[in-house]
Amino acid sequence: MRALTWHGKHDVRMDTVPDPEIVNPRDAVIKVTSTAICGSDLHLYDHYIPTMQAGDILGHEFMGEVVEVGAKSTLKKGQRVVVPFTISCGSCYHCNKHQYSACPNGLPADNQDIARQPYGHEMAGLFGYSHMTGGYAGGQAEYVRVPFSDVGPIVIPDGVPDDKVLFLSDILPTGWQAAEYAEIEPGDTVAVWGCGPVGLFAIQSAFLMGAERVIAIDHFPNRLALAKRFGAETINFEESATYDALMTMTGGIGPDAVIDAVGLEAHGLFLDNVIDQIKASTFLGTDRIHALRQAIIACRKGGRVSMPAVYGGFVDKFPLGAFMEKGLTLKTGQTHVQHYMPGLLNAIMEDKIDTEFLISHRMPLEDAPKGYKMFHDEQNETTKIVLKTA
Ligand SMILES: NC(=O)c1ccc[n+]([C@@H]2O[C@H](COP(=O)([O-])OP(=O)(O)OC[C@H]3O[C@@H](n4cnc5c(N)ncnc54)[C@H](O)[C@@H]3O)[C@@H](O)[C@H]2O)c1
Ligand SMILES: [Zn+2]
Ligand SMILES: [Zn+2]
Repeated sequence: MRALTWHGKHDVRMDTVPDPEIVNPRDAVIKVTSTAICGSDLHLYDHYIPTMQAGDILGHEFMGEVVEVGAKSTLKKGQRVVVPFTISCGSCYHCNKHQYSACPNGLPADNQDIARQPYGHEMAGLFGYSHMTGGYAGGQAEYVRVPFSDVGPIVIPDGVPDDKVLFLSDILPTGWQAAEYAEIEPGDTVAVWGCGPVGLFAIQSAFLMGAERVIAIDHFPNRLALAKRFGAETINFEESATYDALMTMTGGIGPDAVIDAVGLEAHGLFLDNVIDQIKASTFLGTDRIHALRQAIIACRKGGRVSMPAVYGGFVDKFPLGAFMEKGLTLKTGQTHVQHYMPGLLNAIMEDKIDTEFLISHRMPLEDAPKGYKMFHDEQNETTKIVLKTA
């Protein structure tokens, strides 16, 4: 089959690789029909996430048709499913708490030690996202093996187009969880850093959860325009100082909740960001946490910080004093996708959530390397790329 494989920084290629097979009785094999490129994939493309190996198949946002099932799969051949990016067993201590992205059982035994050393625990298995998360082949491919297929994939009703439901695999639940973690109360003002796919779904979700005002921060005019479309007020951080603008907009109090939907590759010519960048490029540091710092400094006293953004390593200049003195709380994590999928599928079917607005480009899977370059280099014009198999 054809698949998008990683070979190093800014080097992804379409290769012919062996077809996946059923390995365990709970597996299914999916023929991918649509798959998307994620902001998280850019962290791999820029080689910030460790434990990648040449030839790894990328992709964790995908859907398709069930073509093979193991003896214990509950899926049936021919069903259309969206697959969550988290590989979770459904019955362990964490899965029983619906903390699916904490499930340790998706991780093959020989990958468990990789994350234990830096994080204290093993991570969950994820599709197409390094060997620290299991080394699973991802879904930017013609076919993919889906472990625990009786737990993860959600069956899509006939007649609902792929583009309407594909984002159930990651970014829609991620934006929703980000808003939920912001513990929004009616009347709240919520500030969202980053108007990428995650930020834009967090904005829609925040309004649905009762936020009175959402203030969106980015520097790409097209992305800010999408945020405006959902009713957000906007700050272009290249045109005005974000902290000052937020204080003016909130009468000096600051937003009740702040959401960091930027992540470890923050943009902007700010002193702390430049230092982080130099440290990252000389292997003295990993993450550029400028947006998170700014969010903590701007958040009102007693407010909430939600951090869907991905970070990988150790950081300095974390404003711990501000965080403590202002009495903030922080919630974060990989999304517990399986927990949110059924409710969000209903919300899509009832037209409460718009998903298709996000897609700026559709292209054949064969053009995936071009898609990565566009999503990386032209973020203003490229909000989300969906790759289609033949
Ligand atoms: N927690 C999870 O399970 C999960 C799932 C999916 C994605 N993510 C993470 O969420 C983050 C966002 O994902 P995405 O797909 O929307 O990515 P993206 O790269 O498309 O969007 C990031 C946006 O942040 C903006 N930005 C950069 N620097 C900024 C700054 N200083 N201030 C304000 N905005 C700034 C960029 O211009 C861009 O529009 C990434 O870190 C991604 O890895 C997490
Ligand atoms: Zn993703
Ligand atoms: Zn589990």
